[in-house]
Amino acid sequence: MGYVPLVNNRHKLKWDRDVPDTFQDISEDDFKTGMRQLAASVNVVTVSNDGIQDGLTATAACSVSAEPPQLLICINRSARAHDLILNEGAFGLNVLARDQEDIAKRFAGMDGAPREERFGLGNWKTVSTGAPILEGALVGFDCQVAECVEAGTHTIFIGRIVGVRHGDGAPLIYGDGRFAGLGE
Ligand SMILES: Cc1cc2nc3c(=O)[nH]c(=O)nc-3n(C[C@H](O)[C@H](O)[C@H](O)COP(=O)(O)O)c2cc1C
Repeated sequence: MGYVPLVNNRHKLKWDRDVPDTFQDISEDDFKTGMRQLAASVNVVTVSNDGIQDGLTATAACSVSAEPPQLLICINRSARAHDLILNEGAFGLNVLARDQEDIAKRFAGMDGAPREERFGLGNWKTVSTGAPILEGALVGFDCQVAECVEAGTHTIFIGRIVGVRHGDGAPLIYGDGRFAGLGE
């Protein structure tokens, strides 16, 4: 049987006002300029589904809970990996090291390389869910999708962590529109 995403809104909103469904108050520019200040670790989300491997660079990832061990990622529905993750019900999250900026650019489509060459940089190993995990990353999480929530153009995938591969080193950060290391 195929994977059935669970859209879960257990907490009923208690306040008596509508969330605006227009963008009139905040321009896309306001949003982007603000979000540039939200410096974050750079990750590569990976997936393998029906023999197809894909992935994308993503900063929208964070810890959710230790019990059970869960994290979340926010993925644009237009990214090819999005539907592969939905179909497979699993993904990998690779937290990049400072010296892996070239891999971040490759998986964001910034270096002009064709999609088939995304895994051409770095050494990739397959883990229990089938997701590719990067050698030399600070950490690689192997996740099964536990919940999905649609949010605007993106889907929030909550992943149950079923495997961890630890590395070490300094993190790659993205902030103010550029890649950097801590304190650079
Ligand atoms: C620093 C950085 C962070 C990004 N973070 C995200 C993210 O969290 N979620 C997302 O869906 N796309 C994010 N992107 C955009 C995707 O990496 C990019 O659109 C990628 O090409 C999508 O894959 P596709 O080529 O299969 O569409 C980010 C890009 C960069 C450069």
